[in-house]
Amino acid sequence: MKKLEDLQAIISDAIDKLNFPEYPAALYEPISYILSLGGKRMRPALLLMACDLFGGDVDAAIPPALAIEVFHNFTLMHDDIMDNAPLRRGHTTVHERWNKNAAILSGDVMLVEGYKLMMQVEDRLLRPILDIFNTTATGVCEGQHLDMEFEEVTDVKIDEYLEMIRLKTAVVLGGALKIGALIGGADLRDANLLSSFGEHLGLAFQLQDDILDVYGDPEKFGKQVGGDIISNKKTYLLIKAKELANNQQTIELNHWIDLKEFDTANKVEAVTAIYNSLDIRKYAEEAMQTYADKAFDALDAINLPEEHKQYLRDFADGLLVREN
Ligand code: IPE
Ligand code: IPE
Ligand code: MG
Ligand code: MG
Ligand code: MG
Repeated sequence: MKKLEDLQAIISDAIDKLNFPEYPAALYEPISYILSLGGKRMRPALLLMACDLFGGDVDAAIPPALAIEVFHNFTLMHDDIMDNAPLRRGHTTVHERWNKNAAILSGDVMLVEGYKLMMQVEDRLLRPILDIFNTTATGVCEGQHLDMEFEEVTDVKIDEYLEMIRLKTAVVLGGALKIGALIGGADLRDANLLSSFGEHLGLAFQLQDDILDVYGDPEKFGKQVGGDIISNKKTYLLIKAKELANNQQTIELNHWIDLKEFDTANKVEAVTAIYNSLDIRKYAEEAMQTYADKAFDALDAINLPEEHKQYLRDFADGLLVREN
């Protein structure tokens, strides 16, 4: 088995070597820009790991790993427009540094570049893998749609929230692992179990993302802290707070949610204070742990040597204590 640092070095080298056309420069520059900002690159890492754990040729898994990372960065470019986000990975977002049209079109062509990379898998696996990629990409659009729709409604249930984050985030982790497993030679049962591990890990991961959005250290988080509060995202934290709030807290929460014009710092401070008095962070962390445990259950059922599974457990544990 390859060491995680080695896999990460392979990904980083391969991303540095990606070549996009030179003309029109302004169409491709934002792509190089967002990729150069790094990020954790966990989706390609999961894909390569899955291939390696089943004894596959990691080199053959590099183009699809890049495809998943390019696809992910496309979703971020568009997500930042939708979320009005000023910061990504500690730097100005593409739509702020260039403009919205640039971010839309560079994102579009990035999706195509992702498909071109995915097309490089061997013919025998092309159809099944494109099928997984399509399901993944459709899921992200559906999840992102729900995420935006939920900004405008008041009574989002925890189950609806969970389905939304499963679609927008978790299916990509599941898809990356399933593609890697198939390239690695896993049978369908194991590939599906690994995908289920990824989806549950993805749910835990997005819960963690929502926690960090409120409680992250602005120096380390790389995104605007409080962005979800500002835009009335129906996160686990807000849904749970509404459920537990007393009358006074309900009035106050609704006041901030309904307010059309406000000082963003004041809103973030006030809503965070309500979360704190209700111990919301603890509930969100418990939910996160529940999904991490479900992920580990799926992993246990896979037909792989114990040390290989431990490798994935360690990776997942590391992911869920992150600060960005
Ligand atoms: C951000 O993903 C979008 C979510 C699904 C929460 P990451 O947290 O993996 O972002 P990078 O790629 O490491 O910057
Ligand atoms: C977006 O979720 C997930 C994507 C599909 C891009 P978020 O909107 O919470 O992601 P961040 O916090 O901006 O990275
Ligand atoms: Mg966002
Ligand atoms: Mg978003
Ligand atoms: Mg977020």
